[in-house]
Amino acid sequence: MPPPAALLNLLQQHSEEHLLAHWDQLSKRECNQLQSQLLAINWHEIAACKKLVEAHQQRRNKQNHEDLKNAVTPHCHKIGEHTATPSDALNRGHQCLRTAQVGAILMAGGQGTRLGFSEPKGTFPIAPISKATLFDVLLGQLNAIKKRFGSRIPLAIMTSAATDTATRRFIAEMNSCGLDPDQIFFFCQGNLPTIDAMNGHLLLDARDHVAVAPDGHGGMLQALTESGGLDWFRQQDCHTLVSFQVDNPLAKPLDPEFLGYHLLSGSSLSTQVIEKIDPSERVGVVAESGGATKIIEYSDLPEAIAAERLPDGRLRFFAGSIGIHAFQRNFLENVASSQASLPLHIAHKKVPFIDGHGCQVQPSTPNAFKFERFIFDLMPLADSVTVIEIDPAEGFAPLKNPSGAAKDSPETVQQAINAYATRHLARAGITVSPDTHVELDTASIFDDEDLRLIAKSATFPNNHIDCPQIVRAI
Ligand code: UTP
Repeated sequence: MPPPAALLNLLQQHSEEHLLAHWDQLSKRECNQLQSQLLAINWHEIAACKKLVEAHQQRRNKQNHEDLKNAVTPHCHKIGEHTATPSDALNRGHQCLRTAQVGAILMAGGQGTRLGFSEPKGTFPIAPISKATLFDVLLGQLNAIKKRFGSRIPLAIMTSAATDTATRRFIAEMNSCGLDPDQIFFFCQGNLPTIDAMNGHLLLDARDHVAVAPDGHGGMLQALTESGGLDWFRQQDCHTLVSFQVDNPLAKPLDPEFLGYHLLSGSSLSTQVIEKIDPSERVGVVAESGGATKIIEYSDLPEAIAAERLPDGRLRFFAGSIGIHAFQRNFLENVASSQASLPLHIAHKKVPFIDGHGCQVQPSTPNAFKFERFIFDLMPLADSVTVIEIDPAEGFAPLKNPSGAAKDSPETVQQAINAYATRHLARAGITVSPDTHVELDTASIFDDEDLRLIAKSATFPNNHIDCPQIVRAI
C-alpha cells in the first residue's frame, strides 16, 4: 500500500520523504506507528533545529565575545561560613523542611552514553560498601528528612523515553526506596529528532522509527507542566522546588542553608556552584551581564577569557554550575504560561541509524546532531538569581564515565563518598583507620547532628572504625 498522500505531502514540504523509504516492507502496525510518529513531530521545531545546524556548520552560533567584556561573576554566598547570616539561612531552611513547603525534582532522563551502562543511570550501584544505587542514595535523603523533621517532601522524577519504563519498574521493585508510593510523581520528558550531519536530514533508527533523543534537562518545565506535575506540587503547597541530577550521589538539593539563602534572598531562582579551579575544566560558569544572570557554556568561553584571573587569584569566571537549582513555583508557572520556550542547543554525537538498505549502522565517530534545552536557560528570565557556593567535596561527585576513567568514574565517585563519610565522622569524633571504607546511610543520617548522637552512644568501640562499615543513625 502506498503511503497516505497527506503524509507524503507533509514530508515533501520538509524534504524528508526519504523517511518513507521502507514503507513498502512495513506491516500495517509498523506503518501506523511510523505515521503517528511523523504526524506528532513539531515541524516548526525541526526547522529551528535545521537552522541551528546550518549556523553551527558555518560557525555562526559562537558566542559574541563582546557580551563577555563587561560580564562578571555574581556575588556568591558560601555554605558553611559561620557568620550570622548562615545561621539565619539555616533556621529558615529548617523551617521550610519542617513545613514541607518545598518539593524536589530529580532529573533522570539522560541516556548516560558516556557511562555505557545499559540500564538507567539511577540504577547504577554506586555506594562503596552497600552497593546502594544512585536512586537509593538520593531518594534516601527524603527518608532522613522525614525522620528528622517529620515532613514528607514530594518528589517528581523526570524520565525520558530512554529511561521511563525501566525507572518506574526499578523504583516499584525497590518499594519506592522507602518513600510512600504517592510521594513520587513520575513524568516523562519529550524527545527531539536527530539530524544527519552529512546531509541535514532526519535519521531513521528502524524502518518504522525516526531516531530521537531526550530534549535535554531543559525539557523539564514543559513536561512537568503538561503532565500535571506543577499542579501536583501546588496542591501540596510546595512554594519552592529544587531540581537535581541523578548522577551526583553527594547532591544536596535540600541542604537547609541552600534553601534558607534562597528563601531569604527573595530570588525566583537560586543555584549551587563550585569553584572552577582550572580554566580547562569543562563546566558552564555563572556570569552576570547587563542585569541578567546566565550560564556560559565552557565551549562558548574563549580560552584566554576562561584563563583570566581576579586579584585574589580566582578565575574571573569561577562559579562552575553543578545542576542544582531552587525555583519559586510561581516563577516556573509564569514562564510556563508565557509560552516562552528555552533556546535549543546543538551537540555532535554518535547516533545509531539504518541506512538506505535498512541495515543497522553503529557509528564509531559522531555522525549526527542532537538538540537539547538546558534548564539553566531559565536564569535570564528570573528577576533575581542567588548564587550559592559549596565545597565540591561536600556536594559534587558526578558519575559520567566508565570504570577506569581518570575523572567522574565509579572509582572516583566512591572515593569521594568514602572521603565525605570519613570527614564527617571525624568531625563528630569518630575516627576511621586509613584505607578503611565507610559509608553513611543517607536514608537515616541527615547531618552531623546524627553522627554526634552515634558518637555519644559509643556504637563503635573507642569511637573508632577499623573495618568497612555502613554507618546508620541510631
Ligand atoms: P548529562 O548531560 O551529563 O547527560 O546529564 P547524561 O545522559 O547523564 O550522560 P551522557 O552525556 O549521555 O554521557 C546531566 C543530568 O541531566 C539529566 C541526566 O539524567 C543527568 O542527571 N538529563 C540530561 C535529563 O534528565 N534529560 C536529558 O535530556 C539530559
